[in-house]
Amino acid sequence: MIPREIIDEIVFRNDVETVIGSYVTLKRAGSNYQAPCPFHSERTPSFTVFPATKSFYCFGCGAGGDVISFVMRAENVDYVDAVKLLADRAGISIPEDGEQSERDGISRKRLYELNLAAAKFFRECLFDPQQGAEGMAYLRESRGLDLATIKHFGLGFSPNSFWALTNKMTSLGFTEEELIAAFLCKRSQKSGKLFDLYRNRVIFPIIDTSGNIVAFGGRVMDGSEPKYLNSSDTPVFKKSRHLFALNFARKVCAERLILCEGYMDVIALHAAGFENAVATLGTAITSEQARIFAKYTKRVVICYDSDKAGQNAANKAMRLLGEVGIDVRVIKLSGAKDPDEYIKKFGAESFRKCLDDSKTGFEFKIDKILSEHDVSLSDERIKASAEICSMIAEVQNNVERDIYIQRAAAVLNVPADTVRAEVARLRKRLVGEYKKKQSRDALLSIKNIGDRVNTDAAKYVAANDCEENILAMMIIFDEYRHAVAKGEIELTADDFVTGFGRRVFETLCALETSAEGYSRAVLGQYFSLDEIGRLEKIEVERRRLTRNDKEVFLAAIASLKAEKAATEGISGNDLLARLRSQRAQKQ
Ligand code: CTP
Ligand code: MN
Repeated sequence: MIPREIIDEIVFRNDVETVIGSYVTLKRAGSNYQAPCPFHSERTPSFTVFPATKSFYCFGCGAGGDVISFVMRAENVDYVDAVKLLADRAGISIPEDGEQSERDGISRKRLYELNLAAAKFFRECLFDPQQGAEGMAYLRESRGLDLATIKHFGLGFSPNSFWALTNKMTSLGFTEEELIAAFLCKRSQKSGKLFDLYRNRVIFPIIDTSGNIVAFGGRVMDGSEPKYLNSSDTPVFKKSRHLFALNFARKVCAERLILCEGYMDVIALHAAGFENAVATLGTAITSEQARIFAKYTKRVVICYDSDKAGQNAANKAMRLLGEVGIDVRVIKLSGAKDPDEYIKKFGAESFRKCLDDSKTGFEFKIDKILSEHDVSLSDERIKASAEICSMIAEVQNNVERDIYIQRAAAVLNVPADTVRAEVARLRKRLVGEYKKKQSRDALLSIKNIGDRVNTDAAKYVAANDCEENILAMMIIFDEYRHAVAKGEIELTADDFVTGFGRRVFETLCALETSAEGYSRAVLGQYFSLDEIGRLEKIEVERRRLTRNDKEVFLAAIASLKAEKAATEGISGNDLLARLRSQRAQKQ
């Protein structure tokens, strides 16, 4: 048995698009990639790779799954061998049985202990009237933080010395290797001795959702460079997989999370009562982080700096968050460069108004297009209107589309009917393309007939639809799986109608309550490749729908229970009828 943690790591470090790209030539198609399917022969590519969900699916032959399933198919190997191949590829060694999962002989546990000790040291320095005076003055006076906030975030100060932390940690028994692995110290090339990396900086500890201190950020107190020093990746920390302050925000994230750019923005927002604010750690948002958001909430309000860089970054964040099914809103602050400054200038109430007035991604994009073109010049106005119309054409909902048409007409200063006609023309083309694709898909899979994966699906079409919805949501959203496994939502294996649905459900629940816990990457151990492909398909279909809230989940469960009752009713009657006829024959 390979530990789940290692399997997750292997999947994480092998980008699905890179691995698959080494077998077939992938072409970008929006945020995904397409290629002719390597598993069946076809002329128009229906094989799609989804980097955001780290998966692939062929709409033609139904092959699908994650990077492990891909290698199993492509190399014709079993699960364990595929995992081993991918481990080699990423340079990860799989521990032999009984061996502790340690990397370079340094255990994660020790690094957590070291980070905790370092954070305590930094905090003591900050609160020391002599050593920390400058840091304290900076945080309280220049940045306007109160003591409670400083304590809440565990802020600290690293003295202006090359050995303060090194000496202290060594005296506590931490080794040089551990100090280097934690990115707290470095070895001097000249003297061969260790020295502190964080010097004369205020320190922001980064805490994961289990409460471990995993990294640090340190800011200078003047204008010198670099402004921030951040831990690079360590055995306990991957920048791209953490969000600053999620340890607090996760408790109040049900309605929405606020995403901002900087540590100071998050701290200022929390201090002003917006404890649902988080930030990435000095890098643009990754799809890994987008998936973390999707785990915790349904709506994210992006509140980036108001400069051009900030607004471009917001655009990217919007796309990544949209891909994982999040309802994204954007705030563009005016009169301040970032949320920290905004709150200081205009107060919390005013910020709350901005939150409530936040724009949908669509409105944000229209504004962005308008800001890039000078619409008083006629050729610029034509370009802007072409971009805006093609965006509107892709909106599915009629009412929504009409609202946008009105808006576009107003901002472009052209008659609404002109915009409407252009949108209609573009839409006709889109719908045509869509229909062509649809009929191809339809030909390939006449609803459930001859379904070898789920042999009951053709008999119980409605029940199977409900099951697929339920199972997809349980696979995609941790919260539904937790709730069902814990019995908070009433759903049992007996509610399932098809044998396949029942088995998937039982496996998800068993994994959820197992010691190692659930991970999508281990499903390949329990299902055949065709079955994994089916699971991918129901996920892909679910992701295309916009509503994934609890109401939808509960509604699907209710319909399944009704379907189940109906099937039992029929088979009950059948049984009765058969008994009667048997009795009649005997007589
Ligand atoms: N950042 C970084 N390295 C830098 C500059 C910025 O890692 N040299 C990261 C930090 O995580 C920072 C974020 O990018 O929090 C946003 O940068 P910026 O807006 O410049 O910083 P603020 O947090 O707003 O800090 P301040 O208000 O103190 O200038
Ligand atoms: Mn700032």
